[in-house]
Amino acid sequence: MVTGASRGLGRALATGLAREGYDLIIDARNAAALEAVAGQIRAAGGHVTAVAGDVTDPAHRAALLAACPGRLDLLVNNAGTLGASPLPALADYPPGELRAAFEANVIAPIALIQLLLPMLRARGGAVLNITSDAAVEAYAGWGGYGAAKAALEQASNVLAAEELAIRVWWADPGDLRTDMHQLAFPGEDISDRPLPEAIVPAFLRLVTERLPSGRYRAAHLLPAAR
Ligand SMILES: NC(=O)c1ccc[n+]([C@@H]2O[C@H](COP(=O)([O-])OP(=O)(O)OC[C@H]3O[C@@H](n4cnc5c(N)ncnc54)[C@H](OP(=O)(O)O)[C@@H]3O)[C@@H](O)[C@H]2O)c1
Repeated sequence: MVTGASRGLGRALATGLAREGYDLIIDARNAAALEAVAGQIRAAGGHVTAVAGDVTDPAHRAALLAACPGRLDLLVNNAGTLGASPLPALADYPPGELRAAFEANVIAPIALIQLLLPMLRARGGAVLNITSDAAVEAYAGWGGYGAAKAALEQASNVLAAEELAIRVWWADPGDLRTDMHQLAFPGEDISDRPLPEAIVPAFLRLVTERLPSGRYRAAHLLPAAR
């Protein structure tokens, strides 16, 4: 299962996993964009169930659970939000926007893990939570997003200590040329950032080599960096 798979990193990961032979369940809020990605994966011979909805909505999370065929090997919590944009200083961060960033980036992934854990435990499966360098670096303006990603990182860390039957990875993909990155740098030319497809081989290593639970950076996992 890959959340937030209608564009950006989620689409690239879903496409890469389909190529590896995974049957997929994908989501995003925009149903048309999600269905377009599902169509591309099917056209390439992949199997995919698309469930449109918002990960912060408990009913949608229940629909994702219902879409599972009684088993699940991997959950990729990729869907996320930058929060307020342009990025405000914490001094000015609207509390409502802060709450929404935590809902999407922390509460929803943990709640989805809770729903899917029984199936993941049964299969010796894995959770990959997509985080960010903003979780550990202090970039001015990134306090809301960064604090939420830091919370997701520590939740992952504790989950890894508690759930010894599964793998729990939390991983920083690095800067990528996506809509979210453009939103963070409005008006800036981001064409020097790599496309998300470039780091898919890095994250596939987690899965294919079943690397130990822990924090990873895509740049360190890329085959060229070994
Ligand atoms: N791009 C970077 O440089 C970068 C760096 C570090 C970390 N990351 C992380 O990488 C992940 C992917 O980012 P990206 O750059 O690929 O972002 P993106 O281009 O904005 O794509 C986000 C995806 O998530 C979906 N999504 C967003 N909110 C959702 C929600 N509430 N429920 C369901 N789906 C939702 C979006 O579709 P809808 O809008 O249709 O829902 C879209 O498919 C995020 O967790 C991000 O924090 C990105």
